[in-house]
Amino acid sequence: MSSRIFVTYPLPSPGLDMLRERFEVGVFGEDLEAGADPDQGRGIAAPSRDQLIGGAAACAGLVTLVRDRVDDELLAALPSLRIVSNYGVGYDNIDVEAATRRGVMVTNTPGVLTNATADLAWLLLLACTRRVVEGERMMRTGAYLGWDPKMLVGADVYGQTLGVVGFGRIGQAVARRAHGFDMRVLYEDAIEVPGAAELGATRVDLDTILAEADYISLHVALTPETHHLIGEPQLRRMKPTAHLVNTSRGPVVDEAALVRALREGWIAGAGLDVFEREPELAAGLADLDNVVLLPHLGSATIGSRAGMSRLAAENVIAALTGERPPTLVNPETFPS
Ligand code: DGY
Repeated sequence: MSSRIFVTYPLPSPGLDMLRERFEVGVFGEDLEAGADPDQGRGIAAPSRDQLIGGAAACAGLVTLVRDRVDDELLAALPSLRIVSNYGVGYDNIDVEAATRRGVMVTNTPGVLTNATADLAWLLLLACTRRVVEGERMMRTGAYLGWDPKMLVGADVYGQTLGVVGFGRIGQAVARRAHGFDMRVLYEDAIEVPGAAELGATRVDLDTILAEADYISLHVALTPETHHLIGEPQLRRMKPTAHLVNTSRGPVVDEAALVRALREGWIAGAGLDVFEREPELAAGLADLDNVVLLPHLGSATIGSRAGMSRLAAENVIAALTGERPPTLVNPETFPS
């Protein structure tokens, strides 16, 4: 049985060492990290389909990132695969149904990035409402002339209404942080979430959140149902003073409609960490001052990235040593 693993990115510690202790491991981009990459620190381009198939040929395990598309065609080209371990909590890049049909385990990395991502949602919320980027730019360009009571005035956060769309781990962590701001918290989710009352959060429908929230933070998984969950009709229903924060997945928001909403004042501002066609931005988005844009940094803390690395490796090791992977997405593939 093959014990080769292909990893599509030189992961932070400790995952690669854990894998190398047990398996033969190929890593895409390792040579680039060693110094040959002029773009180092700006993100390494994803392997092409041919590079992925070439690298993972005859492998039993494949460790992927959000930017690696694992579909039926790829799985068909890699018949020895037994596990796809995604380095990330979201796994919309993987056709789980196809993997399950082919008996391939799929795993993700929930839990270890909850706080980092909730922190970043709050960072975006505060940055867009308090006009942090505009102020910072003013300082760097020498445009600041002196204290001015009307300069870069933002909306209040304290005591306002926060709407959380998707009340899983990260949505709940965002709600927990709202206590410090004495906010009223509304949430939308398919289920009545146990423990929501202790968080002071009230379940309502999306329309109520759109109509009543001053800040809306998105925390849903990307599925066919949540694609463009926030489009023109939803943006038009929001308050003109409201701000939208997205740290979930880009396609949850219709980015072209959001550009119109920000340009024409249907809403006041937005903070985005994820984009419809990453790393590209919708036309016009980067020209707007009332949006803060970050390059998918939700889980980018030392602790979270190490936790993700460890869990991604633990999932591979378990799958290939006959144990149930700790965070298995498709339990049907694990022989009981
Ligand atoms: C996640 O964990 O889903 C991050 O967005 C990276 O994929």
